[in-house]
Amino acid sequence: MSDPKRLVEMLTNLGALTPDWQAAVSEIDRALFVPDTYRNGDRVISRAESPQTWARYVYGDLPLTTQVNDGAEGDDGGLETPTSSTSMPSLMLEMLRLLDLADGHRVAEIGTGTGYNAAWLAHRLGDANVVTVETDPALAAQAQRNLAAAGRHPAVVCGDGLAGVPGHGPFDRLVCTCSVQQVPYPWIEQTPTGRIVTPWGNGFFSGSFAVLDVADGVARGHFAGRPAFMWARQQRPGRGFLRDYIHAPTAAQGSTRIQPETLYWDLDQRFAVAVQLTGVWPMLVEADDGSKESTLWLLTDDRRSWAAVDYVPGHSEFHVEQGGPRQVWDEVEAAHGRWQAAGAPTRDRFGLTVDRAGQSVWLDTPQAPFTPAAVVPQLAGG
Ligand SMILES: C[S@@+](CC[C@H](N)C(=O)[O-])C[C@H]1O[C@@H](n2cnc3c(N)ncnc32)[C@H](O)[C@@H]1O
Repeated sequence: MSDPKRLVEMLTNLGALTPDWQAAVSEIDRALFVPDTYRNGDRVISRAESPQTWARYVYGDLPLTTQVNDGAEGDDGGLETPTSSTSMPSLMLEMLRLLDLADGHRVAEIGTGTGYNAAWLAHRLGDANVVTVETDPALAAQAQRNLAAAGRHPAVVCGDGLAGVPGHGPFDRLVCTCSVQQVPYPWIEQTPTGRIVTPWGNGFFSGSFAVLDVADGVARGHFAGRPAFMWARQQRPGRGFLRDYIHAPTAAQGSTRIQPETLYWDLDQRFAVAVQLTGVWPMLVEADDGSKESTLWLLTDDRRSWAAVDYVPGHSEFHVEQGGPRQVWDEVEAAHGRWQAAGAPTRDRFGLTVDRAGQSVWLDTPQAPFTPAAVVPQLAGG
């Protein structure tokens, strides 16, 4: 079965499709939002070459990449960065559940992409209650055509959604479908008594939804989920090849008892370290000789500093090298130590406060800051 019923059945079996979204998911045909060629992971799927595979993926619970490298021609020096997609439908539903929508709510969506999520929202709430903003003009125009083909006409605005959608608020809910490092204050002003849900984090770890309730000009809330979204264009952290980041010679060597693979894969550790760092991203390189050894590289966005920790199975102490002006591993070691001293709390105990001054992460209660007050991360340009 490769038709819309397949997707509904799949989402129902997963327990992801709740009654409030049944009609929208059943009646909005995802195929109207997907181009003839898209990517799933490394695979390029063409409707002309393999129509059955094309339809099977479209009606599957899969994210489909619809743009790479901001649509630019050429290969960006061999890098292929996904920059737009139709997200995984079960993840879309999880996000919409966190948004806690009610009939009659007025909603802003940041990151129109294909328009599929906006179509669900417009089906549920009515076209007049939905405004969606997309930074890429070609994508915004295509989304508007896709929405019209599905019989939906929410307002589609082309612009930088980090400014919200000035002139269209106030909103009861704001949902962002790209990751941000800093929750923009205009979102709070435009959702004065409502809820904001956004993928949030930094280059070290971005796999969390921030679920924030706004009152008196301040947004507060906890973290949830394990999303993997594309970055807001204007807040992208570093990315690329190792060779482009290792310039400084080794300045220090030592050892650590922090198991680098656990730090990389354990959501609680990585989250807690990430919120204490700015401008650092990790790359885990596994040996291809069957030894199960690996190196965890930590690279700074400014390409000036790096650290490397070698993992060897069975060892409890690991070799560390660092180069450049920042002692990146020392920063990680200190951040990890603070997390341990706090009793190694799980991520669901942390929360975020955002006000005019910036954002800060707390543990258990907003009165117990975990990061220094109102950290505004240094953001890489778009
Ligand atoms: C994962 S896709 C969104 C999926 C979309 N909601 C859908 O249903 O197809 C992320 C989108 O966010 C857009 N985006 C990135 N930065 C943005 C910004 N500052 N303002 C608005 N859109 C942005 C990207 O161009 C991309 O289309």
